Amino acid sequence: MAMSPAKITTEQEDQLFRLLRQLEIAPEASQRVTAQAIGISLGRLNALLRSTADAGFIKVSDRDGPDKRQRFSYEITLKGAAEKTRLTDQFLTRKFAEYDALHAELTGTTSGLEPFKHRTKLMQNNLAPIPELYVSYDSAEKLKLEATELTSHDLTPRQICDLELLMNGGFNPLKGFLTEEDYDGVVENMRLADGTLWPMPITLDVSEEFAASLELGQDIALRDQEGVILGTMTVTDRWEPNKSVEAEKVFGADDDAHPAVNYLHNTAGKIYLGGPVTGIQQPVHYDFRARRDTPNEKRAYFRKMGWRKVVAFQTRNPLHRAHQELTFRAAKEAQANLLIHPVVGLTKPGDVDHFTRVRCYEAVLDKYPQSTTTMSLLNLAMRMAGPREAVWHGLIRANHGCTHFIVGRDHAGPGSNSQGEDFYGPYDAQELYRANQSEIGCEMVDFKHMVWVSERAQYEAMDEIEDKDDVTILNISGTELRRRLAEGLEIPEWFSFPEVVKELRRTKPPRAKQGFTVFFTGFSGSGKSTIANALMVKLMEMGGRPVTLLDGDIVRKNLSSELGFSKEHRDLNIRRIGYVASEITKNGGIAICAPIAPYATTRRAVREDIEAFGAFVEVHVATSIEECEKRDRKGLYKLAREGKIKEFTGISDPYDVPENPELSVETTNVDVDNCAHQVLLKLESMGLIAAT
Ligand code: PPS
Repeated sequence: MAMSPAKITTEQEDQLFRLLRQLEIAPEASQRVTAQAIGISLGRLNALLRSTADAGFIKVSDRDGPDKRQRFSYEITLKGAAEKTRLTDQFLTRKFAEYDALHAELTGTTSGLEPFKHRTKLMQNNLAPIPELYVSYDSAEKLKLEATELTSHDLTPRQICDLELLMNGGFNPLKGFLTEEDYDGVVENMRLADGTLWPMPITLDVSEEFAASLELGQDIALRDQEGVILGTMTVTDRWEPNKSVEAEKVFGADDDAHPAVNYLHNTAGKIYLGGPVTGIQQPVHYDFRARRDTPNEKRAYFRKMGWRKVVAFQTRNPLHRAHQELTFRAAKEAQANLLIHPVVGLTKPGDVDHFTRVRCYEAVLDKYPQSTTTMSLLNLAMRMAGPREAVWHGLIRANHGCTHFIVGRDHAGPGSNSQGEDFYGPYDAQELYRANQSEIGCEMVDFKHMVWVSERAQYEAMDEIEDKDDVTILNISGTELRRRLAEGLEIPEWFSFPEVVKELRRTKPPRAKQGFTVFFTGFSGSGKSTIANALMVKLMEMGGRPVTLLDGDIVRKNLSSELGFSKEHRDLNIRRIGYVASEITKNGGIAICAPIAPYATTRRAVREDIEAFGAFVEVHVATSIEECEKRDRKGLYKLAREGKIKEFTGISDPYDVPENPELSVETTNVDVDNCAHQVLLKLESMGLIAAT
């Protein structure tokens, strides 16, 4: 009989509790002694031992020796230890209630005592330790061994970030990946099933096959990408979410232009698993270790420093002078110390990489008074969910011991939607935050839009400048900064710190010196390879950067020889090409790719991979299917028409025409040299090659 805590009676629970306690004290005692200690018959004890072992609370092993009555020894598992704690709490709660009732009967008033008041009180204090999901070192060692027998799930980079913050209390009060009931509440109205405010679905998405291989109630091992076990999860829930509803409710629109919606539909697995997590060890970070702190480490630091009020500044960008000014002001306004708390997990695709940013932050930190400011890195996977994200960020900062949080204009904004409009209003995030502030437990300091006033040579808050018409107001937007960096133009001293600019220039040399990828796409026989070859030769003639051609046929021979032409295989093929091209781009080379790449979502994924390191230039070779079929250089169209080649692009398989390629070339009546030249002109206009 499987033992489900919800279904057993109080008396059975008491027996279970007594059994667990007795086995903890005397695991090797004979059954008779154990039965006597608990006050039950031997027969009842046997039944109880069986159901307790079935429920996974104890492990039974054989013991050598002549005495038949001492054949077994019993060991309480971690699950059993957790159950014992739960039963203890439950018992105490019941006794408190009985005491209260008695008190009321005798005196006419309740006792005023609350169970666990001491714990609650501690947790309300922003400096007291908060609960983590990690077990002790000894238990972790044991659990790690046990977990090698469990079915494993290899976590994605985003899930690793989520798991780290679940385990270290950054996502307190969550105790694991959301159950279906909690998920529904969070999606619907930002609340867990018990009513607690929580705006973001923290879900464990997996493939259908993996989900189908599991039984509910089963424990699984959660491994990082190197196979290290970080924790275990008891799978209590498994369901197929309605992702369009999630997109609408959480991100405001079911529009793939939103990075998190794109992730939801095109990267996340189809099925969600939910259940409590047991933490074994935190993910390993080799970079900037000294700068990474858990919520409890941050709380301990604030305690040690005597910082009672702390305002946190969230950022995914390098800090410039305007940021410094606004953080100074926020700290002054809140009369608080300052925590610069940049995100180094996953941010918006295309952001400056975190290595560069952290070097920039470290350079700026010297410009803050050491005794009032600290900096710590947060391994959060952002979702760019604007208003909901702001509330989430506030809760995370409250967990890190902060009392105040800076929320800016368009906080965690994802940019424009597919109609070219902003997903959220500029102050939506501040409004939602304000409405939930008391529950977040971290007061909002709203962001001042800081601008440089030339005449007074200082930063001022835009809304406080009274003589706007008489002074020169200067500002440089993020886009403008990127343009200046890309083109090697001047970045004025009033805008940033020389150390920061130097660091940015070091990682982002002017575009004409960066790596980039030209990605041709089009039907078979459209002329992709021919133009790509001509382009390669022209670029090699110019010199300066190594050029690599990843032609469809060559890749299929050398990288993807085992793949066919199903959607799955084509995607895999393109992702491989994208991976190699991104490595080439990262290392300053030029990659020219020329596959069919028929699916827009896969092309977009490759674009994102590459744009992290350099430009991605999509060139649609727009030769019509009729023209390709007429040419039929390889005789494949004929075979496809005869049904001898299946899944042939344009004949019996789809091709998503690129909607916004950097360039579209027509090949009908245009010679190859001219087509390649059009690409060169495009590269020149993008600043990727210097004018010749
Ligand atoms: S994909 O979809 O991007 O993975 O295709 P790709 O790797 O570029 O390979 C396309 C070349 O394979 C030949 N070929 C087919 N193409 C399309 N559909 C089917 N079913 C097919 N079977 C074989 C074809 O010669 C393509 O070469 P190109 O260079 O495009 O003409």
